[in-house]
Amino acid sequence: MEKFIIKGGRRLTGEVEISGAKNAAVAIIPAVILSDEPCILENVPKISDVDVAFKILAELGASIEYLENSTVRIDATNLISTVVPYDLAKLMRASYYFLGSLFGKYRTARVSMPGGCYLGDRPIDQHLKAFVSIGAVTALDHGMIDITADEIKGAPIFFDLVTVGATINTMLAAVKGNGLTVIENAAKEPQIVDVANFLNSMGADIMGAGTDVIKIRGVKYLRGSTYSIIPDQIEAGTYMVAAAATGGNVLIKNVIPKHLETITNRLEKIGVNIESFDDSIRVTTDGPFIKTNIRTAPHPGFPTDMQPLIATLLCLAEGTSIITEDIFDDRFRYVDELRRMGAEISVDGKVAVIDGVGKLMGAPVNAPDLRAGAALIVAGLAASGVTEIDSISHIERGYQNIIEKLHRLGADIEKITETAAPEQTVAKAG
Ligand code: EPU
Repeated sequence: MEKFIIKGGRRLTGEVEISGAKNAAVAIIPAVILSDEPCILENVPKISDVDVAFKILAELGASIEYLENSTVRIDATNLISTVVPYDLAKLMRASYYFLGSLFGKYRTARVSMPGGCYLGDRPIDQHLKAFVSIGAVTALDHGMIDITADEIKGAPIFFDLVTVGATINTMLAAVKGNGLTVIENAAKEPQIVDVANFLNSMGADIMGAGTDVIKIRGVKYLRGSTYSIIPDQIEAGTYMVAAAATGGNVLIKNVIPKHLETITNRLEKIGVNIESFDDSIRVTTDGPFIKTNIRTAPHPGFPTDMQPLIATLLCLAEGTSIITEDIFDDRFRYVDELRRMGAEISVDGKVAVIDGVGKLMGAPVNAPDLRAGAALIVAGLAASGVTEIDSISHIERGYQNIIEKLHRLGADIEKITETAAPEQTVAKAG
C-alpha cells in the first residue's frame, strides 16, 4: 500500500509551476474524437485521470504520442469502436465525456456508467435529457448507457440545475449536429470556456461559453488544431492554501489570476496576502487567520473543489466559521480525518461548523477523495508531528508531481510503499 508521510511544521517558500487543468483536460481529450484531423494538445497534465482518458482513447483505436513532456499528438480519425467498457469507465467520472463525443461524431455510443470520487449521489439525468432533446434514443443496458440517433438535430435545452458535466457533454454532442442548439442555465466554469475554445479552434461555431446561454450551430467538418489547455485553478488554489497554512511565501506560476478571483477574495478575507501579476500570484501571511463563512456555488461562486481545503485553513483560524456545501450531498467525509488531527468540526447535512483550534497535530488519516486528500496534505504540512495519508491514489488522479512540487517548496513529504507485515499474512492464513 502506498502512503504519503509528512513531517509538518515547515514554512513553504519558493516557486511552484501549475500544470494544465484536470477538469479541462479530461473533457478536451475525448473532444479530439470529434476532429476530422489529428490534433496536438499542449499543457496536458501528467495525472492518472489523464492516463485513463488516453487508455480509453487507445482502446477505441486512436493513436497517442507524447511529443514533449506535456505536449501530445492525438489521431482519433480512424476509431474502431464506439464502446467504453466498465473496467475503464469506472476509473474516472469524466468517462461520461466519451458519450457526448462518440455520439456527436458517430451518432452512436455505448459507455459504462462513470466512476470517480464519491461525493454523494451523482446522477447524469441532465446529460441524457440534453441528448434526447437533440434526437437521441437512450437506454440503460446492464450498466452500459446506449445512445443512438439517425440525426442530431439542434434544439433548445434548459438544465434543471447548473451542471458542468452536462453543459460540456451537450456541446460535444451538438457541435456536429444539424442546426442550432441553445443551452440555457449553462455552467460557466473556466473549463467550459476552454472546451468551447478548443472546439472553435477546430472550426466549431459555439458562442456564449462562460455565460449562462450557450449557442451551438452545428458544422460538418472539424479540422485539426494545436491547443494549449488552461492552467488548473484548483491546483493553484491548493498551493495558495498550502502556502497560507504553513505561514509561507510562495510564488505560484502559470496561472490565470482572473480564474482565481473568488478564491483570492476569500483568502484575503481570512487574512492571507495575495499579490496578482500577469500569470502568477504570490501568497504570504503575516497574521492570524480570521473566521469566515463560505457557501459553495457554481462559477463564479466559491468552488466546491476548494471546500475541503478552505475548511482545513479555517481550522487554523480564530473563532467559528461556517461552511455550506451547496453542490454535492456528501462532501464532508474528510471531517472525521481532520478531527483525528485535532480539528473541532461538526457537520449537519450540508453545513459544517468549524471551531478554529489554531494548531493541528499529525495523525494517520485516510484520503476519502481527491480534494479531501489534498486538504489532508495541507493539514499535514501545517500540523506538528507526522501525518500518514492512506488511499493516495485519489490524490494522484488530479495533482501532477505533488511530492516534487512540495519538496521544492521545502516540505518534508515522501511517498512510501508498504508491504503487508508477515505476521498479518500468517494471521489471515490461519
Ligand atoms: N447533477 C445532477 N444531474 C446531472 C448532472 C449533475 O443532478 O445530470 C448534479 C450533481 O449531482 C451535483 C451538481 O449537479 O450535485 C453539479 O454537478 P456537475 O455536473 O456540475 O459536476 P460534475 O460534472 O459531476 C465536475 C467536476 C468536479 C467538480 C464539479 C463542480 C469533472 C470531471 N468533475 O463534476 O470536479 O466538483 O464539476 O464544479 O470535471 C474534482 O475535480 O475533484 C471534482 C469533483
